[in-house]
Amino acid sequence: MTSSNAEQIEYWNSKAGQTWVASQAGVDRMLEPLTALLLERADAQDGERVLDVGCGCGDTTLQIAQTGAAVWGIDISGPMLARAEERAKELGLDNVAFSQTDASTQALTPDHDLILSRFGVMFFADPTEAFRNLRSGLSPQGRLCFLCWQPPRANPWMSISGAAIMPFSTPPETPPDPRAPGPFAFADKDYVSQILGDAGFSEIDVRSVTADVHIADNLDDAVESQSRIGPMARALAELEGEKRDEAIAAAREALAAHVTDDGLDLGAACWLVYAR
Ligand SMILES: C[S@@+](CC[C@H](N)C(=O)[O-])C[C@H]1O[C@@H](n2cnc3c(N)ncnc32)[C@H](O)[C@@H]1O
Repeated sequence: MTSSNAEQIEYWNSKAGQTWVASQAGVDRMLEPLTALLLERADAQDGERVLDVGCGCGDTTLQIAQTGAAVWGIDISGPMLARAEERAKELGLDNVAFSQTDASTQALTPDHDLILSRFGVMFFADPTEAFRNLRSGLSPQGRLCFLCWQPPRANPWMSISGAAIMPFSTPPETPPDPRAPGPFAFADKDYVSQILGDAGFSEIDVRSVTADVHIADNLDDAVESQSRIGPMARALAELEGEKRDEAIAAAREALAAHVTDDGLDLGAACWLVYAR
């Protein structure tokens, strides 16, 4: 694969992809309440043709396949797709297919009833071109439905540990572009609507959905989980030795304040996006 998304292809095929595979069960459990809202809105039907963009380890692909729809999961990450294929085999599903390919350039036939994504569409170097390509895969009555994150301040499940660890990181020389490919690239709902409009979509609806997500059953597991995925994990990647230990201790203290008898549940806020 050569593409303008080369950096992301490298990222999701290296340690990040392996970490997501190792964390698959926990991530799927954590995202359960948000996934339910996505699947309800997408409303996949038996016999429909569905494309799952950035399907990762396949949770949404497999859930939709179990409704009887024929689902094609596409992703740039080899390790995550291998996990998705393994799970499809375990479930004995024969109405799913997976391909390792870049969704922004993959040639599509215009016969998909639904194009769906759970947090897999915020990583395109050129989002308008990517969504124009995705639109070419929709049937005339087809629908697009995806989840993307609202800003960090609306997502304590990422921002509490992220903020605690920030003082230990070296600040970037120039402020980062908030729309650069990454989990928060679509945090501005007007920007999302603009991209979809420019890509030729209509009936664009971007609505706020929120839920408490279950991070872990106890503080130790919560620190472990947040050290693997999310802003804390990304900040930790550049720290070593004593400084790393101090940063983890600071994040631990910040998270500890929110632990209850049920473990750690924190607020999450997304945009649930729908268009035709
Ligand atoms: C945050 S993960 C979400 C994975 C999965 N949808 C889930 O919810 O568990 C983002 C996914 O998007 C994939 N991705 C990023 N850029 C992509 C692209 N251009 N084409 C296809 N997949 C892409 C990544 O490899 C990764 O699996």
